[in-house]
Order: sequence, then structure tokens, then C-alpha cells
Amino acid sequence: MKVLLVGSGGREHALAWALSQSPLLTKLYCAPGNAGIAQVAECVAIPATDFEGLAAFATTKRIDFAVIAADAQLVGGLWDVLEDAGIRCLGPSKMAAVLEGSKGFVKDLCVEAGIPTAAYRRFTQPGPAKAFAETLGYPVVIKADGLAAGKGVIIAASKDEADKAIDFMFEGGFGDSGAEIVVEEFMEGKEASFFALSDGTNVIPLAGAQDHKRVGDGDTGPNTGGMGAYSPAPVLTPDLETIAMEQFIKPTVVAFAAKRRPYMGVLYLGLMITKSGPKLVEYNCRFGDPECQVLMPRLKSDLLTALVAARDGKLTPLEWRDEVALTVVMASKGYPGTYEKGHVITGLEQAAKLPGVTIFHAGTEKRGNDIVAVGGRVLNVTATGKDVAEAQKRAYEAVNLINWNGAFFRRDIGWRALKR
Ligand code: AMP
Ligand code: GLY
Repeated sequence: MKVLLVGSGGREHALAWALSQSPLLTKLYCAPGNAGIAQVAECVAIPATDFEGLAAFATTKRIDFAVIAADAQLVGGLWDVLEDAGIRCLGPSKMAAVLEGSKGFVKDLCVEAGIPTAAYRRFTQPGPAKAFAETLGYPVVIKADGLAAGKGVIIAASKDEADKAIDFMFEGGFGDSGAEIVVEEFMEGKEASFFALSDGTNVIPLAGAQDHKRVGDGDTGPNTGGMGAYSPAPVLTPDLETIAMEQFIKPTVVAFAAKRRPYMGVLYLGLMITKSGPKLVEYNCRFGDPECQVLMPRLKSDLLTALVAARDGKLTPLEWRDEVALTVVMASKGYPGTYEKGHVITGLEQAAKLPGVTIFHAGTEKRGNDIVAVGGRVLNVTATGKDVAEAQKRAYEAVNLINWNGAFFRRDIGWRALKR
């Protein structure tokens, strides 16, 4: 099969790496890709935002299957554009991507389907939103309804902060994403992420993973896209995985089908394990980044076969390796704020030779014979091992061989699992 993968981050490199090992694959293209993806795929200079350009390329090259990795493209309807052009493609469709594209839609669906989640209401005006926040007490959670590049959730500690957050959103602080907002109860507990794959009717579990959102050691500093991850996540016990499937994911897929928006694609479930049981925090309609980078090394079954089966309504369970995978994100100084670009990365080849180590590129570019850092998140140094301690040791041995001017990383990825 000729496959087109859309995207350019570390998640996309992990997907390209797994797709490139498929016995079904004859040719892999990635648009636009990065320097790491170029090692396993032919990169084509079409931006992920150019839907018509992607459809034209896929048609010309007679692409058999396309994989869309990012929320912006799925929520924006790239699946529909490619399928309309006759290209089979991993979803969800635009109508089903509301799973991530509208927080209010998902909250309403939880109520209808009996899925546990925080108390909430939806608002289009600041006054009633502020009044409702007051009835919930503080801290309170204010969410822009639509996609906001991962920044649309504000946890307000006081009335003053909540009122400001509500005004900020309605004044266009997150653009159109904040034209409607959700005000919800603050939940206390431990967070866990679980992934599943649906063909619209059947849904199979993938695996759990733990992200590290804050930029600094000990979970300090501003939020990022994720500074490291590991899988499996011990916080997700086998019992909790069963609950995640039976009480959250399956009812969600059933509810989408009932609404004539069959959900085909990856479901990324964010749970809060509270004193009164697990509750839904949010859903995403895709693999996480960097969570995907620790799921792919553990997947024993063929990824492409599974994704095509999801598209064609023929999903069957997958096999996973017992090993732990852990990834450390190496970023450029200043991330998640502004950072310098163009510094040459050294030590990549040596680090990649270490046992169990795979390096996924996020923000890299090839310039002559050099690989240079061009993103905030630059590399995902990933290792497998018999347990978290071994995977962590191997990943950091590799990290310590790699450098560029301004490189930094968290030194404690995996701490929660090791503390248990
Ligand atoms: P994001 O991934 O940017 O949507 O941010 C969502 C994060 O906000 C979650 O990972 C939680 O840490 C936090 N969060 C969202 N909703 C709640 C809630 N109701 N109670 C407590 N924390 C929440
Ligand atoms: N790592 C969090 C996300 O992909 O949304």
C-alpha cells in the first residue's frame, strides 16, 4: 500500500517508524515531515494545513491510505476532504471530531450516556457564566469550547481569577474557540490517560500512558505540550483499564453511533481518579504527543493493518509487548515561550546505537550534512526496558550523549511510577 502520513512532529515520526515496518507498505510519504521522518519516509513539502494540496497529491500518487495525526486537521475536516477525493483515511470525520472540537458537546454526551464527569454548564454570555462559577466555588475550571492549541483550560483559584478568565475568553482571547465556554467543577485526584481505537462500531483498547505537562522538574513551571511520557502507566491498574473501556469508551462510541456520527479513529481518554471514582476530564480525537512515542515501541501487531481495519469496520484486538517504554523530550531553551532556531545537534548517531533506544524527531531540519533544531520540542529520546527504572536509565544515557546550543530536558521523567 502507498501511504500518506500528515504532520511533522515527534508523534508523526513514531507513527512513520511503525508504519515503515508494515508488511503491507510499499511506499510511505509524509507531508511535511521532519529530518527524522525523512529516514523512513519520503517527505513532501505540503503544509498540513493545505487540505486541497494534500488531496491533489494523494490523488496524483494514487495513495491507498492516509493517516492524519493532529487535532487541528481532524477537527478542520481533512478526513472528509481526502475521503471525498477517494482516499481511504483514518478518521475521525469532521462530524465525529467534535469529540475533541467541542468540550460542551462531549459534556452533554456524558450526561446522556451516563458517563461520570465534573458538574458543568455551557455559556455564551459572561454574566450567567460568572454567576454559575460562584455557585460551584473555587477553584473552578473555565474551558473554551473549541480547540485552543492546548491552552483553552484555565483553573481559576478565586472569583477574581474566574471572572477574568471568563471575560478573557468572551473577549476573543482564544479566538473563535472561546465564543462558547464550559464552566465546570474542579476535580481533585490523579490523572491518567488511556487510548483506544474504534471502527465506528467495535472499539479495542490500545494502552495507557502518563504524560508530564509542566516544563520543569517536580512538575513546576508553565504547561507544555508534554515533556516526556511512559507506558504502561501503573496508575491505570487492570481494573481501571476495564472501567475506562466499559464505563467511558464503549458508551461514547455507542452514543456517537446513535447520533449518526460514527466515531472511527483513536480515542484519547483523560481521566481524573477522584475519591468518588474515575471521571472524564476530556477526550482527544488522536494519539497524544509524546504519548504516541511510547505506545508505538510497545505495539507488537502491525500498525497499518490495524488502522486500515479501523477505517474498514473490521477491527480485531492488538498485541502489545510487556516492556515499558519511556521518552524524554529534549527542547530548546525558552520553550514553551520563544526559542532560538538553527543550532546544530550533535551525538544523535552515537545515542541511537544504545540498547533499546529509538530517537524520534519533533522539530528538526536537515541543513547540508547537519541536523539542526528548529522547534520548541526538538527530540523524543525513547527507550524500552523491563521496567520503568531500566527504560529511564537507558533513555537518559542516550539524552546525555546529545547536545545543541540551548538544549534542555526534564531529569525526572517517570518519577510517579518509580515512587509507587
Ligand atoms: P488541556 O490538556 O490543555 O485541555 O488541559 C486540561 C488539563 O486541565 C487537564 O489535564 C487537567 O489537569 C486540568 N483539568 C481540566 N478539567 C479539570 C477539572 N474539571 N478539574 C481539575 N482539573 C482539570
Ligand atoms: N500530550 C498531550 C496531548 O497530546 O494532548
